[in-house]
Amino acid sequence: MSEVRVGMIGAGAIANSHCSGVNKHKNAKVTAIADPNAERAKEVQELFDIETVYSDWKEIVADPNIDAVAVALPNFLHAPVSIAALEAGKHVILDKPFALNLEEAEAVVAAAKKSGKIFMVGMNQRFSKEGQIIKALADRGEFGEIYRAETCWMRRTGAPKFGTWFGRKDLAGGGCLLDIGVHELDLCLHLINNWEPVSVTGQIFTKFGNRGIGEGGWGKSIPGEHVFDVDDSATALIKFANGAVVDLKVSWIQHQATGGENGVKIFGTEGGAQTHPTPKVFRFAKENGEYEVVEPQDVKLPYAAACRHTNWIDAILGDAEPICKIEEALVVQKILDAIYESSATGEQVKIK
Ligand SMILES: NC(=O)c1ccc[n+]([C@@H]2O[C@H](COP(=O)([O-])OP(=O)(O)OC[C@H]3O[C@@H](n4cnc5c(N)ncnc54)[C@H](O)[C@@H]3O)[C@@H](O)[C@H]2O)c1
Repeated sequence: MSEVRVGMIGAGAIANSHCSGVNKHKNAKVTAIADPNAERAKEVQELFDIETVYSDWKEIVADPNIDAVAVALPNFLHAPVSIAALEAGKHVILDKPFALNLEEAEAVVAAAKKSGKIFMVGMNQRFSKEGQIIKALADRGEFGEIYRAETCWMRRTGAPKFGTWFGRKDLAGGGCLLDIGVHELDLCLHLINNWEPVSVTGQIFTKFGNRGIGEGGWGKSIPGEHVFDVDDSATALIKFANGAVVDLKVSWIQHQATGGENGVKIFGTEGGAQTHPTPKVFRFAKENGEYEVVEPQDVKLPYAAACRHTNWIDAILGDAEPICKIEEALVVQKILDAIYESSATGEQVKIK
């Protein structure tokens, strides 16, 4: 396969980022797009010079000229569309969150393994410069034993457009935790490279969106009736087999000093670090033992200029390993499920 022909499924707010990511690879091109909203599909078609437009994703999946698909749909469609595409022999890059729940995610993993195709939940933050700098330092042991981390994405008035699928549990699976918490949780575990959670205590809240307060306006889906039965903030403490603890905080809407804050903080025996707003390292200087705060310079970025799409295409062509691994996506989904369960039961949830 000299050129990977990609079908874009979903022409919503994030579709442009998928199309430009795929087209960035010299051996790949988005050649078809599907969305029931003909106007949106046409808009993206014109922007990226896409050959074929379909109204139904099943047509892309059945198209023999398509090698691979990028799935950027409302969350309830993630698992069924990914499974159908894999069964039709297409490689798949799926946007986050993996699925509505662990059961669905496990069904996708089974389909991916059976198909032998490259399936990736494309976590874009892993490819950010901030993330890559701290990843490079963590992987060479700069922080010693990482015993604790904090990770957050806290928006003040940042719920997606009200009246769309984002606010509905049956269509989205959850609220801010699945929408933006998933990014920071994944990035944190990737940086500390710890994939063995043993227990979770969490709490979700719905305090504003249900009152129609705090809309941020993300999303291209056409709003209908205002339904909001998902979390607009959440917090969790996750314990790991080696004794490490991760503290996760997420909100679409909450009263706070700034409009938004996000990133990962790492605490290790030999140093600490933050990814945002600027990557920094905290430690005692080797030379004189003085405390120092360093902005790392000239760090060789592990994935360089790759993005989630170029890495996925490279993996399809046999030129690279997927940076976002299926097993890791499953661990993240396990933790997210456990946070919802802990919140509902009021109990700590053990993870097997
Ligand atoms: N990685 C990121 O940073 C990031 C950012 C935003 C959204 N996302 C994810 O991308 C996905 C899409 O989000 P969005 O913001 O583009 O949503 P959106 O509401 O803007 O767009 C969804 C699109 O899906 C289309 N659609 C609905 N049913 C369809 C079907 N059966 N077949 C084909 N198309 C259908 C809608 O018409 C709409 O155009 C979500 O899972 C979301 O979590 C990821």
